Parts: sequence; structure tokens; C-alpha cells
Amino acid sequence: MKLVLLGAPGAGKGTQAKKLIEKFGIPQISTGDLLRAAVAEGTELGKEAKSYMDKGELVPDSVVLGMMEERLSQDDCKNGYILDGFPRNTAQAEELDKMLDSLGMPLDAALSVEVPTEDLMKRLTGRRTCRECGQMYNIYFQPPAEEGKCDKCGGELFQRDDDKEETITKRLEVYQEQTAPLIDYYREKGILKTVTGTGDIDEIFQNVLQTLDAG
Ligand code: AP5
Ligand code: MG
Ligand code: ZN
Repeated sequence: MKLVLLGAPGAGKGTQAKKLIEKFGIPQISTGDLLRAAVAEGTELGKEAKSYMDKGELVPDSVVLGMMEERLSQDDCKNGYILDGFPRNTAQAEELDKMLDSLGMPLDAALSVEVPTEDLMKRLTGRRTCRECGQMYNIYFQPPAEEGKCDKCGGELFQRDDDKEETITKRLEVYQEQTAPLIDYYREKGILKTVTGTGDIDEIFQNVLQTLDAG
């Protein structure tokens, strides 16, 4: 399965991607996760990226495209991949098409996870992530059994720097302006699929599988 996940900040791209990895054993490639790893390591790329991420703006295409080209050419992508948070604008989508053509592994589908805007703020302000294993929680919707501690591995839960109200508002604007047009981009290519992203996470996942004809 070669898949792009589309959806607003907080739509549940990461949450559904983690379930797809478990089921299909293919990698999730999240540009957000890769960028946060670079920030944590303190690399030059990370320092540059952080200034944009903290404002809720997109990191320049040149930075992200270089990173993706390297990642997609690794062996574990040969049997499929899930792109989460990339592409983010039309220029990135066009470059991705070229990259995948030259690697001989074009997309099967772009899946848009649709959630009403009014639900997103609470999802994002309530999100907590495990520092060790990356599992996501939500203090309102999926709290861990013990506050601040991961159910899966006992790791410490943290809140993302960009999950502050004013940064979230900016991210949602950037999504509407730059990323939402990709829904039409993939519709015109005939590979767009959509799924409702509200309700129970496992039920959404069943719908994802059905929509992708992958049950
Ligand atoms: P990125 O990391 O991609 O963040 P995002 O797009 O804002 O999306 P999120 O990760 O916030 O949301 P998600 O859809 O994954 O939701 P999740 O599953 O966690 O990007 C961050 C930044 O990096 C960008 O702002 C930009 O600066 C930079 N960047 C990244 N990619 C880039 C690119 N290609 N080009 C340029 N810049 C780039 O779920 C959210 C919460 O909701 C969780 O708490 C979860 O538990 C909860 N939840 C999930 N499903 C449900 C449900 N059904 N019901 C209730 N709660 C739910
Ligand atoms: Mg995510
Ligand atoms: Zn954990």
C-alpha cells in the first residue's frame, strides 16, 4: 500500500497511521516527526525548522523535500509506505509525484480524514505523546491509565511545543490555505478517498480499511 494521509492538524493522521503500520508492516513517514527528531538532536536543519514550527508555519519546501527524497529511497519503502503530513502544498505534491515516478513506486491512494474544525482545538490542546514510543493520548478523549505515563511502555508523556492555542490557530489557517487544495489535486488524479474522522478510533480504522479495500 502506497498511501498519502491528508487531513487538518488533529484530524488523526498519526493515530490512524500507527494502526496501519501494525496491520501492514509498512513504514509511516511523518515529516512532522522527522522534523521534531532533528529539532531534538539540535542539527542545523532542526534549528532552521524549529523557527517555522513554533510559529505554526510550513518549513521551507527545500528542507522538507531533501529529507523526503532521502527517506523514500530507503529499502523499507519498497513494499509500501504511509506518508503523514507530506505533501503539504501543491509544489510538494508535484515534486513527490516526480520522485515516486523515478523510484518506480507511484501512489495508490490519497486518503482524506475529515473532522469538523470545531473539534480540532480540543484534540490538539489535549494531546500528549510518549517520549519513548511515540504513542498518542488525549487528556479529554483517551487519557492514559496513570497521568503523565504511557500505558504501553511506561514512558513520560509530553505536550508538543506547537500545541498551544495561538499556534494551533495559525496551523489551522495554513492548512486551509495551503494543504486543503491537495484534496482537489488528488481528486483530479482519480486517487482521492475520504473517510469520516470522528467517533471511535477503532471504528474509524475499520472504515479506513474498507475505503482502501484493504479489510
Ligand atoms: P505535523 O507533525 O504534521 O502536525 P499536523 O499536521 O499539525 O498534524 P498533527 O500531528 O497535529 O495531527 P494528526 O492528524 O497527526 O493528529 P493525531 O493523530 O496526533 O506538523 C507539525 C509542523 O511541522 C507543521 O506545522 C510544520 O511547521 C512542520 N511540517 C511538517 N510537515 C511539513 C511539510 N511537509 N512541509 C512543511 N512543513 C512541515 O491526533 C490528535 C489528537 O486527537 C491526539 O491527542 C489523539 O489522541 C486525538 N484523536 C485522534 N483520533 C481521535 C478521535 N477519533 N476522537 C477523539 N480524539 C482523537
Ligand atoms: Mg501527526
Ligand atoms: Zn510509550
